[in-house]
Formats: sequence, structure tokens, C-alpha cells
Amino acid sequence: MAELAGVSVRTLHHYDEIGLARPSARTAGGYRAYSAGDVERLREVLAYRRLGFGLREVAELVGDSSTDAVAHLRRLRALLLERRDRADAMVAAIDRELDARAKGVKVTPEEQLEILGARLYDAIGGAYTATRRTDPRIAAQILDALGDARTVLNVGAGTGSYEPTDREVTAVEPSEVMRSQRPVGSAPCVAAAAESLPFEDHSFDVAMAVSTVHHWGDPMAGLREMRRVARRVVVLTFDTDEPGWQDRFWLTRDYLPEFATVLAEFPSLSRMADAIGARAEPVPIPWDCTDGLFEAYWRRPGAYLEEHVRRAMSVWTRVGPDAEQRAVRSLSNDLESGRWAERNSDLAHLDTADLGLRLLIG
Ligand SMILES: C[S@@+](CC[C@H](N)C(=O)[O-])C[C@H]1O[C@@H](n2cnc3c(N)ncnc32)[C@H](O)[C@@H]1O
Repeated sequence: MAELAGVSVRTLHHYDEIGLARPSARTAGGYRAYSAGDVERLREVLAYRRLGFGLREVAELVGDSSTDAVAHLRRLRALLLERRDRADAMVAAIDRELDARAKGVKVTPEEQLEILGARLYDAIGGAYTATRRTDPRIAAQILDALGDARTVLNVGAGTGSYEPTDREVTAVEPSEVMRSQRPVGSAPCVAAAAESLPFEDHSFDVAMAVSTVHHWGDPMAGLREMRRVARRVVVLTFDTDEPGWQDRFWLTRDYLPEFATVLAEFPSLSRMADAIGARAEPVPIPWDCTDGLFEAYWRRPGAYLEEHVRRAMSVWTRVGPDAEQRAVRSLSNDLESGRWAERNSDLAHLDTADLGLRLLIG
């Protein structure tokens, strides 16, 4: 069976021990004997594992008695097609850029964004609303920073999280997929990018941008645009000024050092603050944060083993599947062995953590 399935005998024994894929009989000699039904179950387990699901999640998926083999095949097929679409969109954008570079054509920021910016969200944005929604505590801090502003521009607005409902809001969002997921009745949304805002100078009391600046092709140009069109600017972003900032969060420190390369070109917090005349305020992340951003599950590590949680965090797509699979495997092992709990025992009693999120208030 191990040879047929392309896994080690140890893996089969482990799945048996934890009840994930149990052979229904033993031979007279004591060997595990897999029936046709057992093979079907093992195939489902292995397919979900290869798609990146954690052991606990696979157990839930295959343990659901309302889902038969055909339903599992349909679900696996849909997941694979979604992954292929995402990869196709990125490959096509990369091919266009390679072609342009080979011809000596200057690649514009918009074209570069095809891979990493708005087009990234056209490729991955469909998974966003599963876990990304307004966290009330972070929202309260943002609302407070907006002060008595009556007209608000929300740049990189996505599906509308953190948009105040008691002000006159205009949203800006370049990704069609994200715009299409804005709830009915939410603020009007303009298809544009931060670097070139289609508004007159001083059109708004305040311009806000939440968890988006690191996606912009030219963050400094975008911030200057916000400053131009609004009297005040409020930005939720990330602080990379402190040396060793990569070690603030165990996920980056112990499992995904590649996160640092995602932010390698990102401007310093002080440069961004200067550009919009802002002061910086820490944004503590509650242990039960309801916005599934990259750092949200700092006290709930098992969440990072779940595919749908990771798909709503752009970091995983940006570091690529090899780094993602390695990080998830290593975290999964450490959770099973108790190593994670041992290393991070100091977190168990914290209600909030400062992991580098900052609110710039100008
Ligand atoms: C992590 S989402 C944040 C969405 C929303 N602000 C929130 O807090 O849920 C990042 C958003 O930035 C958008 N984005 C990417 N490049 C952009 C650009 N150059 N200008 C404005 N928005 C951009 C993406 O399309 C995506 O919707």
C-alpha cells in the first residue's frame, strides 16, 4: 500500500495510529490489510494533505459523514482548479514582464503590480472574505484616529473592512475581484490605484489606508497622493525600522524567514510618517483577532495549518509554495511534538501582542 500510494510505511502507521486512515482488517500474519473503502479514504487523506491542509483539518474533512467519495472528488477538483487559476494568472503576468524586459521596454509600476499588487488580489481575492473582516478593537482605534472627519477616502479598500458607516465614504480599489465582493449598500468604489488618485487636491477631510500600503508598486507616491487629496491621513501599516524586527513574531522567526524578503523594499516607518506628517501609534493585536491578517493567530498557531486561513493572507502567495509547504510542515511537527508550546509558553497569558502593526496618524 505504501508503494502504491507513494508514501512511507511510517506515514501509513501514523495515519492508522491517529485514526486518519485505518485499515479495516489485519492479515493472519498481523499485517495491515486495506479494503477498497480504506484505499478510497487514504486517497482522500493524501490528496487533501498534498493541497496543504493540516492533519486536523483533513480529519474534519474526511470525517464528515455527509460527504461521500464523489463530493470529495468534486471539492478536490475545485481546489486544484482554483490553485491552477492563481498560478496561471501569475505565470501570465511574469511572461508579459519578461517579454517586455527582453525587448528593452521599460516596465511600468502598473505592469509590475500585475504580479504582486492589484492583479495579485484579482488572483487570490476570492478567498479573502472567508477570514478577513473588521476586528472591532482595531476598528475602534482607527475610528478614533479619524476624529471628526465627515468625508473619508478609503484607499486600497478591498471588501470594505474598517470603513466607517457614519461618515460619507468614497472607496478606491484597483482589483475587480475585491470590488465585486463589497457588500450591497457599502460606500461607492472607484477603480483606481493609490499612486494616481483621480481626485482634486483637498477633496476629503481624511484619507485612510488599512493593510494595503505594502502592496503598492510605489508606496511613497501613494502616500503623497493621499496627502494631496485629503487634509489628514490615517494609515495602518507595518514597522520594519527596528533591527531584528523579523524576530518579533514566532511565525517569521522560526518558520517563515522569507517574510522579510517580501518587505525588503518596503519604506521605513519613519519615512512614511514624514511623507504624511504623521505620528505612529502601536496597534496591539488581540489574541482572538477577527481579521485574519498574517499576525492574527499569534496565540492560535493551529490556524496557520489551515489552507483557507493562509489563502486570505497574501504573504503565503508571495513567498511561494515551497516556502509555504516547508513552513507549514515544520509548524505542524512542532505543534504535534509540543516544541511550539515549549518555545512560546510566554504567549499563553497575553491578551494582546505588539507585532509591529502601527497606525500612522497625520
Ligand atoms: C490586504 S487587502 C486590504 C483591504 C482592506 N483595506 C482591508 O483592510 O480589508 C490589500 C488591498 O490593497 C489593494 N491594492 C493593491 N495594490 C494597490 C494600489 N496600488 N493602490 C491601491 N490599492 C491597492 C489590493 O487590491 C487589496 O484589495
